[in-house]
Amino acid sequence: MAARLFAVPTGARVVSQPHLRTVVVLAAGEGKRMKSALPKVLHPLLGRTLVGHVLAAAAPLAADRTVVVVGHGADQVRAHLAEIAPEATPVLQAEQLGTGHAVRIALDAAPDATGTVVVINGDVPLLRPETVAALVAAHEEARAAATVLAAEVPDPTGLGRIVRDTDGRLEQIVEERDATPAQRAIREINAGIYAFDAARLRDALGKLSTDNDQGEEYLTDVFALLGSAGEPVAVHVAADHVETLGCNDRVELAALRRLLRARVNEAWMRTGVSLLDPDTTWIDVTVALDRDAVVDQNTQLRGGTVVGTGAVVGPDVTLIDTVVGPGATVLRSHAVGAEVGAGASVGPYAYLRPEARLAEKAKVGTFVEVKNSEVGAGAKVPHLSYVGDATIGAKANIGAATIFVNYDGVNKHRTTVGEGAFVGCDTSLIAPVEVGAGAYVAAGSAIAQDVPAGALGVTRAPQRNLDGWVARKRAGTVSAEAAARAQAADERASAPGSGASEGEAIHGDAEPVRSAPGAGDTATE
Ligand code: UD1
Ligand code: MG
Repeated sequence: MAARLFAVPTGARVVSQPHLRTVVVLAAGEGKRMKSALPKVLHPLLGRTLVGHVLAAAAPLAADRTVVVVGHGADQVRAHLAEIAPEATPVLQAEQLGTGHAVRIALDAAPDATGTVVVINGDVPLLRPETVAALVAAHEEARAAATVLAAEVPDPTGLGRIVRDTDGRLEQIVEERDATPAQRAIREINAGIYAFDAARLRDALGKLSTDNDQGEEYLTDVFALLGSAGEPVAVHVAADHVETLGCNDRVELAALRRLLRARVNEAWMRTGVSLLDPDTTWIDVTVALDRDAVVDQNTQLRGGTVVGTGAVVGPDVTLIDTVVGPGATVLRSHAVGAEVGAGASVGPYAYLRPEARLAEKAKVGTFVEVKNSEVGAGAKVPHLSYVGDATIGAKANIGAATIFVNYDGVNKHRTTVGEGAFVGCDTSLIAPVEVGAGAYVAAGSAIAQDVPAGALGVTRAPQRNLDGWVARKRAGTVSAEAAARAQAADERASAPGSGASEGEAIHGDAEPVRSAPGAGDTATE
């Protein structure tokens, strides 16, 4: 079985009892600087949306309830949540009056919430489950009223600063726009991830003011409120500040994507997968790879893709929701929703579409497109073909430029090619039609009727040669000149005394088709 590094979050200790937990994800903001019709939290990042990453980081907490505050693009966000986290409750914040207001609305939707409330900004996709778990553990062990995840960052611009007193205790969290010059010099920032005691949070949220530069209810003010009331508030510092990076525009999104790529790629290499060029290899967090799989440069593995042991994928390959069996090779190709059997070979330049299923050791070669079709064990479709809605038996050979004509303009129909059948080049198989086991089809045929097992199907028109046609109809062309030279040479060779025996060309309909379509006639290897 292929290993799954990220699809099922691992490593985080689930400490679900006796604490009841509620997770609140803040995802109502517009994300103005993304300049997008898509709400910010729905932007994709290596296999999940931003909010999908946040929910995955919180998943191991096994919270009793997950509330997602939605606002901008609420319908789109709700629809996405229904798909990826149907257990989460979306709660509408019609007007974005601040992070404190958002959490207040979330708690109104969870009136019975007790224990720990974990709040996470919806735009911190690099957050690891382990880090959330460590924050919650520290918070619960300390029996704190509120704990904020902080990080020391090289550039704190735009972020809330952690202001500590002379004893190093948290005094307040101050937004950059409300900060004094001295506070702005602080490089310890609020990551936007918190753990609270539900009752004390609820109480403090009721006391928030909007007396700040943005006129919003700041969740961060809860810390100063609780602290000055003598409640224990704490700071949990993240080991790696990269995890706390938020996403505000597409430049930051691209930077996050590179950081996540490096993390994912390093993890796979450490499990025994070869990435020949990690800088050009993009693997979604949902992909699974087996030991000794080899991924060559410029390759994207996306969605539910699985690559088996010893398989070689790339260079220049995109696989989406595609399963590649052990020992298979896929070279310079694009596949979506396909299955490539053990030891099978794909490409260069193949296109596998949904429900393309290649059995063990099958071959789909150059400029071949396969859709909704089975290619049997050891069967070959080596060049320039379209295989749509077909079943190709084991060890069948499909010659170059064979088209499975599956569509009559209204309906799609299936073609079956039996085991060991041999289809000549440049053939149309007009569905619905069946070529029996071991049958042959002559090159250049248009097959609309079944070919029985072991028969030869042929629809080729008889050939006629019109002698001298080029000289008459294409005089003065290079072809005419070449033909004249060849004829003159022929005549010299056959002149009496030349020593050559007299030959006779075969013309016209002497033979309607050759008696057997030898391999050179019908197929290519
Ligand atoms: C917030 C923090 C700041 C911290 C930073 C980390 C506050 C007041 N400030 O600032 O200290 O350093 O995050 O990234 O909390 N949202 C809502 N409803 C609202 C407002 C915001 O759901 O009414 C959501 C947004 O969609 C976003 C998150 O809350 O996911 C944070 O909001 P944002 O406006 O980005 O806050 P920042 O100014 O970044
Ligand atoms: Mg922000």
